This record gives sequence, C-alpha cells and structure tokens, in this order.
Amino acid sequence: MESNKINDYIQANKDRFLSELMDLLKIPSISANPDNKTDVLKTAEAVKNRLVEAGADKVEICPTKGYPVVYGEKIIDAKLPTVIVYGHYDVQPADPLDLWDSPPFEPVIKKTEIHPEGAIFARGSCDDKGQMYMHVKAFETMMKTNSLPCNVRFMIEGEEEVGSANLGQFIVEHKAKLKGDVILISDTSMIGHNAPSIDVGLRGLCYMEVEVVGPNRDLHSGVYGGAVANPINILCEIVAKMKDENNHILIPGFYDDVEELSKEERAELAKAPFEIGEFKKSLDIAEIHGEKGYSTMERTGIRPTLDVNGMWGGYTGEGAKTVLPSKAFAKISMRLVPHQSAEKIAKLFEKHFRSLAPASVKVKVAIHHGGEPVVTPTNSIAFNAASLAIEETFGKKPIPTRGGGSIPIVALFEKELGLKSVLMGFGLDSDSLHSPNEHYGLVNYYKGIKTIPLFFKHFTALSAKK
Ligand code: BES
Ligand code: MN
Ligand code: MN
Repeated sequence: MESNKINDYIQANKDRFLSELMDLLKIPSISANPDNKTDVLKTAEAVKNRLVEAGADKVEICPTKGYPVVYGEKIIDAKLPTVIVYGHYDVQPADPLDLWDSPPFEPVIKKTEIHPEGAIFARGSCDDKGQMYMHVKAFETMMKTNSLPCNVRFMIEGEEEVGSANLGQFIVEHKAKLKGDVILISDTSMIGHNAPSIDVGLRGLCYMEVEVVGPNRDLHSGVYGGAVANPINILCEIVAKMKDENNHILIPGFYDDVEELSKEERAELAKAPFEIGEFKKSLDIAEIHGEKGYSTMERTGIRPTLDVNGMWGGYTGEGAKTVLPSKAFAKISMRLVPHQSAEKIAKLFEKHFRSLAPASVKVKVAIHHGGEPVVTPTNSIAFNAASLAIEETFGKKPIPTRGGGSIPIVALFEKELGLKSVLMGFGLDSDSLHSPNEHYGLVNYYKGIKTIPLFFKHFTALSAKK
C-alpha cells in the first residue's frame, strides 16, 4: 500500500525530478577552480532552496573556511532513529573539454549500450549531483506521501572533490546538529544493472607533489647535454624505481600495516561477477596490469597503489626546442587500504623519494589533501536495511564489494561522531566519473529514488526490533 503510494508519486513527478536535476547540472560547481567560486556558491543556494521546497526544516547554508555545507532536517519524533544523508554538490573540473561530445554543463539525454533507456550526460551527473539529488527527491516523496518513518538530517558539502579539508572541523563544531544513528551516502558505484552491490570499504588517499631541480636555469641541450643531470630524466628514473617487476611498491615499510585478507574473505569477494574480457574491451587495452598475485578486483579493492597523476617540465609546445630543463614536477598519489595511515605513508614516501635522488639534483616534496581508508560493517542494521531495500528494487540481494575510490569524510564521521556509513551508491564504474562524457543512467536515478524510502522503512523497522 505504502510503497504503491510512493511509486505513484515518483511516476507522477518523474519529468520534474529529471528537469530539476538538469537545472542543477547546468551550474559549473567546480570546487578546484577559484574562477568558479560564484557557481559553487550558487549551487549551494540552489540545493538549499530545493531542500526547503522538499519540506526540510532549519535549512541553512553553514559557512566553513572553504565552501559551505548545506544543512537541513526533518525531526518528526526524537525517540525515532535519525538518518544523516551526506552528499556533495561540487564537481570535478571538466577538462579536457575537447574530449566531450556535448558541453559538460549543458546536460543532454542520450542512449548508450549500457543505458539503453538513456543517461544524462553532464559533469557531476553521477558524481555526485545526480546521486545526491535522489535523496532530496526521495525525501520529497516521503514527505508528500506521509511516509517518512524516522528523522533525517542532510549534510551536503561543497569540497569533496578537493579533499574535504574543512569538513572535519565542521563536524566537530556542529556535533549537536549531527546527532544521528547512521550516515547514508550515495556516491559510489554498483557492479551493474543486474548485479547490485554495496561498497563495504573505500581506499584512503595520500597525494604528493614533487619537484626535482637540476641546474639553476634552462640550458642548451647541446652545449650542456650529457654533462649535467636532466631533472626530467632523473624524475623518471626515481619513479621507475618505486615499483619492482611484480608491481610491488618498493617504499620501505609501505606494506607494514596493510590488512591481509584471509582466504575465506578473498573467496567471498571473488563471488562478485567480473568479466576480464569485458573489462579489457571497455577500456580498449590488450592486457591488464597490476600487482602479482592479486586479481583485478583485489587490485582495486584491497591493495594499495602508487600512480603518477601528472608530470611536467621542459618544453611541451609546438615543434622541437632543444632544452635541458632546470626543473621537473610530478603529482604522485597512493591509494591506501585499511590500517595504512596517510600521514605515515607520506613520511615514508618522502624519505624514500629523497633517498633515490642523486646528489646532482635537489628535491622538494609536498603533501596535498589525504584521507584514511575505511571498512564498513556487513552485519549492521543499516547494512541490512540497505540490502533489503536494494533487493526490493533490483530483485536481487546486493553483493558486498570494496570500492577503489575514496571519500575522506567517511573515516572522519567514524572518528568524530562514532558513526558508521552505508555506501548505497547507484552509479556504474563505466559512467565516466571524473572523465569526459560523465553520465548517469535514468534507470539508476529513478531506482535510487525508489530505493531510498525503502531504506528508511527497513532501517526504522529493524531499529525498533533491536
Ligand atoms: N565519489 C567519488 C569516490 C568514489 C567513486 C568511490 C566511485 C567509490 C567509487 C568521490 O567524489 C571522489 O572522487 N573522491 C576522490 C577523493 C578526493 C580526496 C579527491 C577520489 O577518490 O579520487
Ligand atoms: Mn563523489
Ligand atoms: Mn569524485
């Protein structure tokens, strides 16, 4: 009965739910680019207004040292459980722009092989405006159909894509506002339309920037070449020495705290469907690559990594310029797994990087934002509620998986509020998050809006039984 009412409301308001999301996607809320400051703030304002319209109380834009957090709540009965919904309204930069088939901030709906019923193409469609907005519309649906079964608080931030540097402090300062029983987040992926899954772990992140300095100025590569260290060559050599032929990272102590999974745990994770041929085909690669002794899913789920994200220096313009550059730079990030600490890994990285640099160059090592890895429980009321909800809408029990990405605030929620999160994501890895042509399936969007009220229902019922 209840769920019919909910589904009817969603069906009747389907088009508006979509057009409102499209409007939100038109604002380029790129947190990394200071030129977009007014857009990011405009998006916070829009999210605030949408929450008010949906029926939330005490909606406010809470300032932080960076971009604000949008807060809103509906407390129907202090004795009932409270779900805290977290999401982010900021997006990644859209570049390289020329690789987009349609402009990143002019959302359009197109059909794809994976999304035959259509997907919205725009930066942020999946990560995370589309997934965050499902919660606003699910809330509106529960309000309008008189079926909100417990309390809810929204906490939608604007700095996730730049590391949530000010959110830890926000949580500490607003503990009273954030009283609740669980954090519900839709900002991850599922395995596939027919293989629903719930991430029960996320990797951490340690992000470094290095500079290698050779001679005090750029030199003629003929006059000096061969007699002076070339910092780009040296940087390449150092990077090459960071892994062995088995793709094992060679930083001393790097693996000391890595959680080794038992045979049973690995067998459990291996139950998730994964087709290596499809994987290679979708990325147009002839062969996979990674740490010896681990499957592809393990390489992204339970093993740490070290990757160069960008490297520059010397002449990169048109044609040829014979130059021996004075400086070389690289951004190097490491994904971390449970028990590794971003701070400790940063120190180990710096020590090792310096030890590999010859006396012919000077090096500088700096650390960017980081985040700690997390595992979330699979036996909690919240996990069971999410599992039941997804089973109802997808017709299948979701498979627990480990996500390879990072959401730094999840570890902070646990540390500061003692609250665990449920990662009920509805995107697909193939939705091109952070890439050109990011998209989000319409089926995923609407299924998410249907699944969220079911989570609330089951979470409330299971909490009452406890
Ligand atoms: N939503 C992603 C994280 C994600 C995506 C987790 C898919 C699991 C599956 C989030 O917005 C993100 O991109 N996080 C950054 C970290 C941040 C510190 C920049 C990341 O993982 O690179
Ligand atoms: Mn995200
Ligand atoms: Mn992201």
